Parts: sequence; structure tokens; C-alpha cells
Amino acid sequence: MAIISSQNPSPERSPSPSLLSAALNSEEQQSTSEDSLRPQSLAEYIGQQELKDVLEIAIQAAKSRQESLDHLLLYGPPGLGKTTIALILAAEMGVNCKITSAPALERPRDIVGLLINLKPGDILFIDEIHRLSRMTEELLYPAMEDFYLDLTVGKHQSARSRRLSLNRFTLVGATTRAGALTSPLRDRFGLVQRLRFYQPAELQQIVERTAVILQTPITPEAALEIGRRSRGTPRIAIRLLKRVRDYAAVKHSGEITLAVAIAALELFNVDPAGLDWTDRRLLSVIIESYQGGPVGIDALAAATGEDVQTIEEVYEPYLMQMGYLQRTPRGRMATPQAWQHLGYRPRQFPLLEPEP
Ligand SMILES: Nc1ncnc2c1ncn2[C@@H]1O[C@H](COP(=O)(O)OP(=O)(O)O)[C@@H](O)[C@H]1O
Ligand SMILES: [Mg+2]
Repeated sequence: MAIISSQNPSPERSPSPSLLSAALNSEEQQSTSEDSLRPQSLAEYIGQQELKDVLEIAIQAAKSRQESLDHLLLYGPPGLGKTTIALILAAEMGVNCKITSAPALERPRDIVGLLINLKPGDILFIDEIHRLSRMTEELLYPAMEDFYLDLTVGKHQSARSRRLSLNRFTLVGATTRAGALTSPLRDRFGLVQRLRFYQPAELQQIVERTAVILQTPITPEAALEIGRRSRGTPRIAIRLLKRVRDYAAVKHSGEITLAVAIAALELFNVDPAGLDWTDRRLLSVIIESYQGGPVGIDALAAATGEDVQTIEEVYEPYLMQMGYLQRTPRGRMATPQAWQHLGYRPRQFPLLEPEP
């Protein structure tokens, strides 16, 4: 049964490295270049209005009571501005921000060392907080709740328990998966906030702002086009802007016009909906190998060579937001919009006939 006809077969080879995975995975490498581009205050932080409203109130209340901020949990896909928020909070509160991530806190003494060095009101930012080791997490409970640590000093028979009090501090945790946090940890955050994908117009502003910092001339239409193709994600918008800037400098006069932006983005395999090679591959595997689904996540991972966690945390949220992918109890399904976007002839939905 031939239900699939592709006028637009997916490319066979992945541009390496994928612009998207590079933008999302090499955070350490790019953190220095990112720092100069980060907004420094809530007023400069574009979009996420609901989050900003909540934080503004929390900041004012804490300031007027001369207290530290409540612990804050931020969740949402990578690149939406979680680390930036932690730094802005510290700046607005006039305190230091210590940045770490759960994989760096393997041994209990790692977190102890950080906590005892915090000054009153300081912010401790823990990235990927769903990956804390159990021991570290248990040390954090009393630290978050009552600002003390219970330490065991010495070994074997001579071991004693010692209580160490800490300065009041604010823990800002970031995670791509709020559901992966244990409930005792989640319950200790006074504020739990989700970051949303950005609208094209918001990303346009971020691109324009970044272009000014990078001293790159860009037209509003070109900034909007880059914004539209950035998967709702500021980090990707900035990354695409830099690649388009290179292209404009080498192939043209340097100014980024709409035509230059479109030509460059096409060259980098970013399609008009912002899907990159892997996004399109995921969808076309579901469509071509599984007649549109449902297909289990493990089968999908095997067929595309991506790992399950990356598919779930990096690729799927945007594909679902765009209405190209559905998660159902029986597996992932490509929607009619996905068929259409990739140039497959739409089939009848739902498909009930079994394979011959
Ligand atoms: N609302 C925003 N306005 C302007 N720039 C932003 C915004 N959110 C994120 N960025 C930029 O996007 C990049 C990624 O943000 P980051 O805070 O590191 O994301 P996350 O920690 O969620 O992965 C940074 O360079 C930051 O400056
Ligand atoms: Mg971050």
C-alpha cells in the first residue's frame, strides 16, 4: 500500500555538526561569548511577561522586608533564558550569584563547600537540578528550609554528627524536566515558574538587540525572519544571527537584509518553520517508516540515532508546540500539518487499514 508520496525527500546526510545541537549542547564552550550578550536587568529581558511579573513582585517584597528571595525553580527547554534570569535576580537584589550544575555536585563536600561560602542573600544557581545525587539532595533539604547542614565528621566509631548553620541564601534551580524532580525537592521551592517558547516578534527584538551589541547592521524584516526560524529559542536566534552575519560578511557587503538572511538560513538547513535537519528527520521517519505513527520513543531513537533524552527534551517540545507532533499513550504521531510541511501527500486520518 503506497500511502506516502514525497515530493520533497529528506536529505540523506546531516550537516555536521547540527546547528541546533551545537546551539543547545555546547553550553560550556559558549558561556563566555554568551555572557556579553545577556540582558542585565528584568527591564532588558525580552518576553516571558508572566515570569517577569511574578519576579518583580518577589523582588520588591523581599527588598522591602530586607529578606532573601524565596527559592525559585525554573523549568523549560534549553536556551530560553533560565541562567540569564538567575544572573538578573542577583543583579536586581545586589547579591552574588554562584553558578553550578548538578553533575558537578557529585560528592557531598562539593555542595557543602558552595553553601558555607555563600554570603547573606546570595544566589546559588544549580543547573540540571533533576540530576542531583541522592546524598547531595538530602543535604539540601535542611539547607533550603532552615539554613543549616547536618554533617557527619570523622569515620567509623568516632563519627559524630555536627550541625552547621548557613547564611540565608536563595537557591535557583533550573531543569528541562520539572517532572523528574523528587517531590520533597520540588516542594521546597517557594516559586515554580515555567519558561515558554518566544514569539517571533520577541525573538526579532532579541536578534535586533544582539545585532547592536555585535555591531552588525540588520533590517527589521531580516531580524524577524531569523526570529521566526529560531524554534522559539533565544539561544538559537543568537546562534543563527552569528552564522548569518558571517555569511553576510563573506558573500555580501555585511548588512543583513531579508534576502541575505533567507539565503544563509537555507544554506544552514534551517527551514521556514525553524526546523533543522534532525527535526525533519524525526518527522519523516515517523511518516515513512511508521505511516505517521504511533511509534514508541525507543524505536524512534534507534531509527534516527538520537538518544531518547535529547528527543524528549530538545526536539519534541518545539515540534509539539508547532503542532507537528503528538504524544499519545501508544507513541508519537506526526500530525497532518507535519505531512504537509514536509511535502508528503496527506493521507486519510485516522488510518485504520492494516499493512498488506
Ligand atoms: N528574554 C531574553 N532576552 C534577551 N536575551 C535572552 C533572553 N533569554 C535568553 N537570552 C539569551 O539567550 C542565551 C541563552 O540564555 P540562557 O539563560 O543561557 O538559557 P538557559 O539557561 O535557559 O539554557 C543567552 O545568550 C541570553 O543572553
Ligand atoms: Mg543555562
